[in-house]
Amino acid sequence: MLSATAPVVQPLTPPEGSKINFGATITGIDIENLTDADFNIIREVLFTHQVIIFKNQSHVTPRAQFNLTNLFNPAATSYGHGKTVIGNGFVEEYEGLKNIQLRHPHHKTFHVTTIPEEDDLTHTRFYRWHIDAALYGLAPPIVTTLLAVKVPGGRRQICRYDDGTGDELSVPLGTTAFVSSYTSYDILSPSDQEFARTTKVEYAPHPYIWMSGAKSRPDGLGMVSEGKEIPLEDLPLIEEDKIQILPMCWKNPLTGKLALQVHPSAIRKLHLADGTVVEDLKEVREMVRRLQRPGIGPGYVYAHDWEEGDFVLFHNRGVLHSVVGAFGGRR
Ligand SMILES: [Fe+2]
Repeated sequence: MLSATAPVVQPLTPPEGSKINFGATITGIDIENLTDADFNIIREVLFTHQVIIFKNQSHVTPRAQFNLTNLFNPAATSYGHGKTVIGNGFVEEYEGLKNIQLRHPHHKTFHVTTIPEEDDLTHTRFYRWHIDAALYGLAPPIVTTLLAVKVPGGRRQICRYDDGTGDELSVPLGTTAFVSSYTSYDILSPSDQEFARTTKVEYAPHPYIWMSGAKSRPDGLGMVSEGKEIPLEDLPLIEEDKIQILPMCWKNPLTGKLALQVHPSAIRKLHLADGTVVEDLKEVREMVRRLQRPGIGPGYVYAHDWEEGDFVLFHNRGVLHSVVGAFGGRR
């Protein structure tokens, strides 16, 4: 199918009071029938704006979705999340998966404190700020895609940080939240930028199993240090060469800008420029949190208001994202 109109790129307009400087919509491209020229446009827009929203893509097949992802991640056959259907409620059939009960991850099972029952409909939390990545044996994929099959629509909730700052943000129900890791880097002091540029992060082996005994901070940015991580000797066999030691800052392949790109809940050690290895987990987490927390401030969060057919492609090495909230039984 030939597109009748040339692709149009429209950077997102930040809501009143917002400082977001990333994200764009593209119209006039059909993900299902992608040309080389389309891909070249998408690539440039992606590395410029980090998050791309394609409207009206309900017809896109998992194969086309995979193909687009694969154009960016040619070596990848396995992704951070594997094949996942994200959502909440009961869906009769989706691409051959029948009668699946979708479970939207809920902060109640993951956060150290929770929103009280009486506020549950009106208030919510960031579930977990993260990069889509196994962080053990595999490099993080360059892009991730999300397609909204059905959306709750309608009302909004207040997303509370509950981290002692009083920060909160009005968000659409069932939103996915993004922050730019370029901004996170840009707003650091020059000495913190220097620290970030020269420090490497060592992630835990089998990080998701390792962290499974522990609880998240209430703002979803990293874990609470209570010594509840699964001891290394109780994890599956650890192959040392699969442990990921990655720079704190990742360079944008198009703009050369640096992103402060750390998966905060999976970190275990820091390797400093002078060769020191910081091994105290509480200290490691506090050092990283001090750098990352400003970048998830309410003014820097893009909370996507999902509409049916929205196809979102994001730069997984340039943004952090989080599922937000959970839906009640009725929406
Ligand atoms: Fe994710």
